Amino acid sequence: EGGPLPHREKWTFSGMFGTFDQAQLQRGFQVYREVCANCHSLSYVRFRNLGEEGGPDFSAAQVKALAAEYKVKDGPNDSGDMFERPGRPADKIPAPFPNDQAAAAANGGKAPPDLSLMAKARTFARGGLWFIIDWLPFVGYTEQGPDYIHALLNGYKDEPPKDVTVPPGGHYNEFYPGHVIAMPKPLSDGQVTYAKGADGKPVVPETVDQYSRDVTAFLMWTAEPHLLARKSLGLRAILFLLVLAGLLYYVKKKIWSDVG
Ligand code: HEM
Repeated sequence: EGGPLPHREKWTFSGMFGTFDQAQLQRGFQVYREVCANCHSLSYVRFRNLGEEGGPDFSAAQVKALAAEYKVKDGPNDSGDMFERPGRPADKIPAPFPNDQAAAAANGGKAPPDLSLMAKARTFARGGLWFIIDWLPFVGYTEQGPDYIHALLNGYKDEPPKDVTVPPGGHYNEFYPGHVIAMPKPLSDGQVTYAKGADGKPVVPETVDQYSRDVTAFLMWTAEPHLLARKSLGLRAILFLLVLAGLLYYVKKKIWSDVG
């Protein structure tokens, strides 16, 4: 079980002062929507979350228009029937399959897991002592999950090593624990067309590596939308404690100075 450790990548949200890159989160949402959403749900995310500050930060009008592009199940109405209507900002992003059974049936027996918290779910996959470091808010290496997702999306090999037999419906992936994953290679170069910059040229390359970075950053945001607030609160708490410690030390010296 287990493969090589994911490479440690550079993320804009890493470290004490890290932040999400709004443009990247918007691209990542586009990749989710055009590719991953064919199989994976994102059940904890509502359209209006996509307009929140610190996230993809779409405008209210964009969120409304976006939601309206989806069909959402609602009901029962007065005659007891379920019906479909255009999505609204308060709706959850609709899932591709009605339930896990249907999802598994469409994917060779394995249901694609919900991606909302995936970037956190794999945080401890490195094992060992990483989990201690991960819990120290200031060392704050919370990126094993994103590193893993990035590695997984880039980890497909056409030719599995000779000693591995890939069963039908399985796909060889260097970074998936056990190496045989039910998810076919989801991304290929040029698959998603990003908005061009003002000069008509692509702002970032349309490659598997870039798509996977963007969608991973987006999934980190869905898993920890308040990451930045948490970091800044932690930083202020530590500063406060430092000042308080200094003050207490000084006061103690002063009060006890005549005792010797
Ligand atoms: C599993 C991400 C697209 C089908 C997974 C896992 C992740 C993931 C992180 C969990 C791996 C693990 O358990 O360690 C993504 C992303 C996608 C994407 C980011 C878009 C870029 C797709 C598509 C399909 C699909 C398009 C269907 C054609 C599956 C299935 C599994 C899976 C069936 C379960 C695999 C297993 O348990 O063997 N995906 N996925 N995924 N995905 Fe995807």
